[in-house]
Amino acid sequence: MRQVGPTPSGIERTFGDEEIIVSKTDRRGFITYANDVFVRVSGYREDELLGKPHSIIRHPEMPRIVFRVLWQTIERGEEIFAFVNNLAADGANYWVLAHISPSFDADGRIVGYHSNRRSPRRAAITEIAALYERLRAEELRHHSPVAGMEASGQLLAHLLGARDQDYDAFVWDLINRAEAA
Ligand SMILES: Cc1cc2nc3c(=O)[nH]c(=O)nc-3n(C[C@H](O)[C@H](O)[C@H](O)COP(=O)(O)O)c2cc1C
Repeated sequence: MRQVGPTPSGIERTFGDEEIIVSKTDRRGFITYANDVFVRVSGYREDELLGKPHSIIRHPEMPRIVFRVLWQTIERGEEIFAFVNNLAADGANYWVLAHISPSFDADGRIVGYHSNRRSPRRAAITEIAALYERLRAEELRHHSPVAGMEASGQLLAHLLGARDQDYDAFVWDLINRAEAA
C-alpha cells in the first residue's frame, strides 16, 4: 500500500525526447538505483528515492489493474512495455512509456528489475489516459480494492478482446499509431 503522498496539482511535467528515466529495484520493487533524469523529473532527492518502494511516485489516478498486469508479467521473467502516469514530489504528474525487465543471476533466478522510460507521444497519452480513466472509474465503483481490480480486469479484457489484443499488443499498436500520427 502506498503511503499518503503529495496532492496532485493537475500540472503536467514533460521531459526531453532524447532523455531516459532509469531506475532499478530489488525483487520487491524497492528502488536501488535512480539516474539524474529520474531525480530531476520526480522532484525527489536521490537519497529520498533509494530504499523506497517504487510506489513512492504512484499517481492515485492510475488503475490498479495496470500494476497487476505489470507485476504478473515481470515476475514470470518477461519484459513489459507500459504507459504509466507518475506523481512527482511537488504534485505535478508526468507520463512515461516504461520498459521494465527482470535481471537474473547465474542460476536464472530473478534478482531485481530494471526500468527505462521515454517520453510518450501526445497522441498516445491522450488515448491511454482515456482508457485508464475508464478502468479507474470501474475500480472506484466497487467497495473493496480487490473487487474493483477484478472488475477493471474484466473491463480491460473486454475492451482489448474486442480488438483481439492483450495489453502488450495494445501498447505496441498505440506506440506505432502515435508514431505515424
Ligand atoms: C522496475 C520497476 C519500476 C517501476 N516503476 C514504477 C513507476 O514509475 N511508477 C509507478 O507508479 N509504479 C512503478 N512500479 C510499480 C510499483 O512497484 C507499484 O506496483 C505501483 O506503484 C503500485 O503501487 P501499490 O501497489 O502500492 O498501489 C515499478 C515497479 C518496478 C519493479
